[in-house]
Parts: sequence; structure tokens; C-alpha cells
Amino acid sequence: MPENTLSITDNRTNKTYTVPVENGTIRAMDLRQIKTGPEDFGLMTYDPAYINTASCKSAITYIDGDKGILRYRGYPIEVLAERCTFLEVAYLLMFGELPTEKELNSWVYDITHHSMLHETTKKFMEGFRYSAHPMSMFVSTIAALSSVYPDAKLVRSPQDRMHQIIRIIGKVPSIAAMSYRHNVGFPYVYPDNDLSYTENFMNMLWKMVEPKYVAHPAIARALDILFILHADHEQNCSTSAMRSVGSSETDPYLAVASAASALAGPLHGGANEEVLRMLDEIGTKDNVPAYIKRVKDGHFKLMGFGHRIYKNYDPRAKIIRWSAEQVFEVTGRNSKLDIALELERIALEDDYFVKRKLYPNVDFYSGIMYQAMGFRPEMFTVLFAIPRTAGWLAQWEELMKDPEQKIARPRQIYTGHGERDFVPIDKRVPVPIPAEYPSR
Ligand code: CMC
Repeated sequence: MPENTLSITDNRTNKTYTVPVENGTIRAMDLRQIKTGPEDFGLMTYDPAYINTASCKSAITYIDGDKGILRYRGYPIEVLAERCTFLEVAYLLMFGELPTEKELNSWVYDITHHSMLHETTKKFMEGFRYSAHPMSMFVSTIAALSSVYPDAKLVRSPQDRMHQIIRIIGKVPSIAAMSYRHNVGFPYVYPDNDLSYTENFMNMLWKMVEPKYVAHPAIARALDILFILHADHEQNCSTSAMRSVGSSETDPYLAVASAASALAGPLHGGANEEVLRMLDEIGTKDNVPAYIKRVKDGHFKLMGFGHRIYKNYDPRAKIIRWSAEQVFEVTGRNSKLDIALELERIALEDDYFVKRKLYPNVDFYSGIMYQAMGFRPEMFTVLFAIPRTAGWLAQWEELMKDPEQKIARPRQIYTGHGERDFVPIDKRVPVPIPAEYPSR
């Protein structure tokens, strides 16, 4: 029997099949030949939430969840966070190698010169309700850009794809900043091309009447590091959404809007906002044990804890803890840090969390840092979405070049009725509405 194969005996038929094993994986389609007879469709796998299914081959991000390792294109996240700028990392994710100085300058120039939004897009944003959540504005405005750039539909053209990629990375900070200014009722600020990516973002967020915005270098650097840490995370929920939606060959604005929608959920990027709400609810360190007890009793989850892949400390959370100290030197310590540290201490000693390998994830400390920098909780997920856009687009570009990829279309196990006779309306029997739904 050749090595790197798997033998499967079907006890229904007593037949044995041999399928190749490549990269620790078997191809689901190799199971289709396993049938009980000519009428049988063939064996499928059932994997709700894709817990054990690889949906693509990717050379972008590597995670070893048991060891707490995260690398972009082979470079450890710790090294990139220390040595690179966010746009340098975005280049690495997109093209596979770190840029030379000339390549970086040209990449930064191109992105910087695509940060303006069309005036009609600005007006579109003005139409949102005064209390609109910035993440809803972010998602909708990116989708709306699809109407501004009809050439984005040319997704089979590498040149057009790159044009849109540069536009989108250039414009997401502008959209994010305008959604914030809208929320607080301040006039929108136009981009300043003299500034770096993060400094310009800060300019668009916080410039008031001064002729030129000057960002605090420590805060700008800390934000840049946060952007690096959030830039990609292989096939998470939003990236899978990007690939799944992108596989229909829709334009990248619509695909990024779908990915950002997935990110908005509290189990994904929305967790950072929820962590702050949780810390507010806990109020003081003394209330932590009682809160943990309620988590263990199943009332709710500890936000910012746990991860599908990391069964060890999330390496991003470690860097954020370190970086937060640098920010606090400028801004003063966020008092919520003490509650968070106490939560972490108690949780990491508790059997419930130890047994389930639940550790702080990236969202546990990021919100505390964002708040110290002056962001409101509503903005936290938008701050995650800006850098993750670079990851989504790198994954999309990889998808578009992958000859094995087709439109995403999972199978299902049908559990409903077989064919049955139609019941005319006067013969139908009322079915009680389950108690959890409002009565009609
Ligand atoms: N607090 C308490 N219990 C938890 C938590 C938590 N935060 N996370 C998981 N568990 C328990 C869960 O109830 C289950 O227990 P049991 O075996 O008794 O049923 C066990 O741990 C396994 O959890 P799971 O729900 O099967 O894990 P998952 O891989 O499906 O979910 C997760 C991963 C991140 C959605 C989940 O841990 C969670 O909801 N965490 C809180 C939200 C959060 O912080 N999300 C941000 C994720 S990191 C940023 C990102 O990439 O989006």
C-alpha cells in the first residue's frame, strides 16, 4: 500500500477504498466514490461551522493554535509588530515578500493618493441617522462604492483588481473616520497626503480648527501596531465570507462589505466593543469573582476570551498588553485595565477555563487601549475592520488566482419532509407558535 494514503472500509458493503493524504488532508471529493449502489449519491462529510475542514490552500498566514504562533508569510507577528509599518505589512500580505524601499514608497504613494472619497459618497454618508452605528455606516458605504467604480466588476483582470485593492485600502480609513465624525456630529475632515496612514487616520478623526493636525508619535505608532496585529488571521469568519462571496465573482467592494458584516458580530470583531461593556458592567475588581461564577453557570460568555484556533495565549493579546503600557505612559492608565487583569488572573486559575483552554484573545485588551487613545466603544470594530481589509483583499487576490477555486457552494443534509400532498387553506390545522416567538 503506498505511503500517504488512507484505507477506508465501508462496513455497509465490505468494500475498501484507498484515498491519498496530502498535507494531512483527504479530499472530500475522494469520498464520493464510496457508495452502497448505483442510486447512492456517494459519501459526504458533515462539518457544521467548518471545524475540521480546509476550504482552500493559502500561503498568507500561518497559525499554530496550540503553541500560540502567528506568522504572516513566514514572519513572526512579534517581529513584524516591532520592525514594520502597517502598509509594509499590507504589502507583504498582498505580494508575499517585504518591499524594498522603492517598492514601499510607491505602494505608500499609491494608497495615500486614493484616500479621497467622491463627494457623492460623502453626501451618502451624511444621510445616515445621527445615531447610526459606525460599523453599519462602514459596511454600507463600502458596498455603496461599488456604484461609484463600475470597473470593479472586471475581477478577472489582475490590473483592475490591483487598482481596486489600492483604492479600498486607501479609502477605508476615510470611511471609518467619517462614520465617527458623523456619530459625534462634527464636520468631516479630508485626508492629508503629507501624513502616514495612521497619522492621517488620526487627522481625519480628531482634527478640529488647527491648520495642520500633528499626531502624537507614540499613539500613532501604537495604532500602527494594532493595525499590524489585526491585518490577517487566515480563514476566520469574515475572511471566509470574503472568499465565499468573492467566489461568485462579485466586485471587491461588495465582497469586502460582506466580510465587514461578518466581522461586526459579537463573536468575531464585535467582541472588542462587548469587552468594554462587560468591564463597565463589572464595575470594580471586587465584582470579578461573582461575574466569573455567572459565566461558569452559563448565563453568558466571557467576552474577549476563547478562540476556535488558539488553545493557548493569543500572541496578539500579549503584544497588545505590552503596547498598552506604552500608550498609558502618554494617556494615563485606563482604570479598566485592573478589572481586566483581575478577570484574566482568576479565569486562568479556574478549572472551567483551564479545562476548555480558554485564554484572552486579541479583543480582550485592545478595547482598553482604544479607549485610552480616545475612541468610543462603537468605533472599536471599525478599527479592526480597517487593517483586516488588507488581509481580506490579499486572500481575495489569492482566491482569484487559484485554479482550484470555484463558486463556494456547500452541501447539506436535508432533514425536512419527503414529498407530501398540498393542504388547501380551509383544511389546514393551526400549529401552535413556539413560546419564544411573539404571538401573531
Ligand atoms: N466564556 C465562557 N465559556 C466559553 C467561552 C467564553 N468566552 N468561549 C468558549 N467557551 C466554552 C463554551 O461554552 C464551550 O463549553 P462546553 O464545552 O461546556 O459547551 C467550550 O468553551 C468550547 O467553546 P465553543 O463555543 O465550542 O468554541 P468555538 O470555537 O465555537 O467559539 C469563540 C470560539 C471565539 C466564538 C468563543 O470562544 C466565544 O464566543 N468567545 C467570546 C467572544 C470573543 O471574544 N470573540 C472574539 C474572538 S477573537 C477575535 C476574532 O478573530 O474575531
